[in-house]
Amino acid sequence: MRKISFSFGASYSSGADGVSLRKKYESSALKSKEWLEGTSPETSGHGWYSLPDGDVDGIIENAEWLSGYSNIVQVGIGGSALGNLMLHEALAGYCSACGTPKFFMADNPDPEKLRFIWESVRGTKTALIGVSKSGSTAETMTQFLWLRERLRENGGSDNDILIITDPKNGIFRSFANNSGCRVLDLPASVGGRFSVLSSVGLVSAAALGIDVRRLLKGAAEMREFLAKERDFDKNPALKLAALHLEHERNGRNISVLMPYSSKMSYFCEWYAQLWAESLGKNACGTTPVRAIGAIDQHSQVQLYTEGPDDKFFTLFCIKNHGEDVAVPQIDNSALDGLRYLENQKIGEMLNLEAQSTAAAIVKSGHPLLWVELDEIGAETLGRLIFFYEYLTALTGNMMGIDPFDQPGVEQGKKYTYGLMGRVGYDKDAEEVRSWFSKISADMIGVN
Ligand code: PA5
Repeated sequence: MRKISFSFGASYSSGADGVSLRKKYESSALKSKEWLEGTSPETSGHGWYSLPDGDVDGIIENAEWLSGYSNIVQVGIGGSALGNLMLHEALAGYCSACGTPKFFMADNPDPEKLRFIWESVRGTKTALIGVSKSGSTAETMTQFLWLRERLRENGGSDNDILIITDPKNGIFRSFANNSGCRVLDLPASVGGRFSVLSSVGLVSAAALGIDVRRLLKGAAEMREFLAKERDFDKNPALKLAALHLEHERNGRNISVLMPYSSKMSYFCEWYAQLWAESLGKNACGTTPVRAIGAIDQHSQVQLYTEGPDDKFFTLFCIKNHGEDVAVPQIDNSALDGLRYLENQKIGEMLNLEAQSTAAAIVKSGHPLLWVELDEIGAETLGRLIFFYEYLTALTGNMMGIDPFDQPGVEQGKKYTYGLMGRVGYDKDAEEVRSWFSKISADMIGVN
């Protein structure tokens, strides 16, 4: 079995240790664990817990259908996009627009990017996937309508469209019921940012050749482990939730995630949404910061070591980077200064750099959790995804907030609806205009 190990040795505040942490947080962590595991997955927000048991037949059937296309364009944003990007980067090679079918994500409604995507697929057999839980998000709907029109000009039709949305509600659902397109349900009790292990993340992953059964197997194994382990000192989710709360209370309100792997940059993006949107409530929450090793050693680590003590760090080290590459023999005396690198493996160097950065951060007096993954494969990633979903929900309940709602996001959506003239949102339009007149005052123009 591929392993993930969590080393807590340097993760405590100075003067504290595992014993004091346990004393302070064990009972509330266990109470939240009970809430999390004891609430029915039918309850709003809790559906993610049972996704590892999902039936993948419909997913595989749709993925096979998608594999017959040269290109797949998906529209979706936030939880309807980041999980896909995470899976593709980690498990389908770095470039999901390089294989067959090629995959493009239209998340940000930036006309330049949208035109670029269309120019890349025009004239080919292209499928369009529309993902929206609410079935009405303006960023997704505008791009969907534009791409649907292009698809038809290109000889396609609604038969080339797959919609993934709420089983009953929303404009996407009505469209799906009213057209010849395919449709898959996103269970009503699964929130957007917790939906990667549903059809939202799995259909395009399977179409790109990712083994989604192994992904779910890994997630189910992690769930089983976390549910069984009631000992605070042996359950990394209980301990880590407590640590996040403790560091936040001690003024460390930034949570840095720094994997030493280029395959994990979208994992950080996905985590950042999960963490921020779930926990940023009631003036609480810690700000997630994404960093990639070794790149950010040459960008952020100066701040991490000598900047303010307001961060709790998590570093991921990947033991096996696949086939390693070694530095060749030096054959030019001008390069003699590099002889120490001869025959050294680059993947091994990356991992030594992870150790060096961890040591530098800890030497500077900052708390750090060291996480080792055997490799980045479908099962390991499934485990990691479930672990972070569980950790986020647990931490939220321990904080006394609802980790599954997102009133701040909804507010932004309503303001946009109002400004775009959607019926029923006049008050929102008025409100946003009034705030914006304050924002745009006291201007200094520079020519
Ligand atoms: O987690 C969430 O609920 C949000 O971030 C949504 O994923 C995001 O706002 C997109 O919403 P929808 O899928 O309804 O279009």
